[in-house]
Amino acid sequence: MGKKILVATGGGDCPGLNAVIRGIVKRAAQEPDWEVYGCMESFNGILKDKIDIRLLTEDDVAGIHIQGGTIIKTTNKGGPFHFPVKQADGSWKVENRTALMKKRFDEMGFDAIINIGGDGSQRISQELSNLGFNVIGVPKTIDNDLSCTDFTFGFQTAVEIATEAFDKLVTTACSHSRVFIMEVMGRDAGWIALNTAIAGGAEVCIIPEIPYDPHIIAQKIATRYKGDYGFCNIVIAEGAKSLDGKVTGMAPTAVGDEHIKLGGVGAKLKAELEAVGVEPDIRVTVLGHLQRGGTPIAYDRVLATEFGVKAVELVKEEKYGTLVIYNHPDISYVTLEKALEMPNFVKPDTSDLVRTARGVGISFGDQASLKY
Ligand code: F6P
Repeated sequence: MGKKILVATGGGDCPGLNAVIRGIVKRAAQEPDWEVYGCMESFNGILKDKIDIRLLTEDDVAGIHIQGGTIIKTTNKGGPFHFPVKQADGSWKVENRTALMKKRFDEMGFDAIINIGGDGSQRISQELSNLGFNVIGVPKTIDNDLSCTDFTFGFQTAVEIATEAFDKLVTTACSHSRVFIMEVMGRDAGWIALNTAIAGGAEVCIIPEIPYDPHIIAQKIATRYKGDYGFCNIVIAEGAKSLDGKVTGMAPTAVGDEHIKLGGVGAKLKAELEAVGVEPDIRVTVLGHLQRGGTPIAYDRVLATEFGVKAVELVKEEKYGTLVIYNHPDISYVTLEKALEMPNFVKPDTSDLVRTARGVGISFGDQASLKY
């Protein structure tokens, strides 16, 4: 018997989404009478007054594995449990539209959902699964903060982009004897910053998991200058906190968006370093969404394709309520419940990457960094 699969991409976009979609469509095409439909703009396609769901054929996905973004669009606002609806007086209210979603899902004869997304999207997967939908999750995020999987796709591409940018900043920092602060993404987890700092040879790496003290960073900077010359390169994750424990950003303004818009911690650190007497010129570069756009590197194309193919295999085996994962060298799955038990944050005391970074003299701006 054929199966009808609904695919959605949710949350912030990420290099490799299209490679997953292609993997799903191509693998499903090997089964008799299977069909894959794209739900446009995450679940909005099935929740909106005017349904927007599109059949995806092998022709539609030909060659898209090398393209950034997602051909079926995405959003990090709303969702079936908090769908924003404009009221007659112009105000907005959020509605639970799961009953409408179930009705339409059944009427259109869908058998399963493959939901490609990060932690927020996978929480939606789990809640939908609890309501009786047949859901398979595929882990996506450049932040790499989902646990149970060695990597999420998109992460390695983001590290590559950040490292390339970092290498460029090193040469200009050196020419001008400046301090450069490069702000990278990483809402709660410092994986991008940490990997970039090691790959690029940073002097300082500031991550959300290790609160920093500007005085300690200033001491590290001082060791980098001899006479008139010297330079220092700092990588900082957007979610980094100083000892006050506060993140830097702005409250969300868009309806249905609950996330604080992080950004500006690099500028905050510059001001803090100047306030504690750092004399060399300090410049700040914010990489922002450059890390999320464009072509996925080969590693992420492969991982994303593996995830897409595995998701279809799990639909075939009816292993619903699960998340596809990668545990080297295997692609397998865990229950959504297990996957969401704990986020994947850098563990400062036990992480080999932190130990390695400290081993090559990278300061985290904490007391422990004073020992080397
Ligand atoms: O979760 C991925 C991520 O890139 C975070 O690092 C960042 O804080 C967030 O998305 C930004 O999302 P947007 O600008 O789309 O709201």
